[in-house]
Amino acid sequence: YIDICRLAASWRKKMATRKILLKGEKALNSHCRPVTEFNDRLHTLLDDMKETLYKAQGYGLAAPQVGILKRVAVIDVGEGYIELINPEILDPEGEQRDVEGCLSCPDVWGYVKRPYSCTLRAQDRNGEYYEMKLEGLFCRCACHETDHLDGKLFVDLVDEFVKPEE
Ligand code: NI
Repeated sequence: YIDICRLAASWRKKMATRKILLKGEKALNSHCRPVTEFNDRLHTLLDDMKETLYKAQGYGLAAPQVGILKRVAVIDVGEGYIELINPEILDPEGEQRDVEGCLSCPDVWGYVKRPYSCTLRAQDRNGEYYEMKLEGLFCRCACHETDHLDGKLFVDLVDEFVKPEE
């Protein structure tokens, strides 16, 4: 027979997309709190953020963009999906200047200077620390998402705005 409880549990665990807040919302200019509990609530947030990221076809999404003021972000620039809890950008090296955008600033694009490479130190969804050496777009994205956790938007770092058709 059908196990109703298990069915109900798996239904509840289904991922959901969350609304992405746009520039002007207070949450996007707020300093986010460190995560201290690695529980189901965090896992649901991460699952929802992953779903939201892929649906929006972005490279990265930070928790304040969905109204949650915690130091959490997800990234996939085509080199594998990662979850960043309490991330730190260490050993920034070199420089890259390229066009950047943000899911919270639709139709706004501009050149931003970022380090070319860095070491990302963060925790995973179970609280385990990990370190990754990142370069190029991956490094750019990790810096962009970490900025979100300090209430900073890329538009304040742009040295030259561009129109989408250029
Ligand atoms: Ni962004």
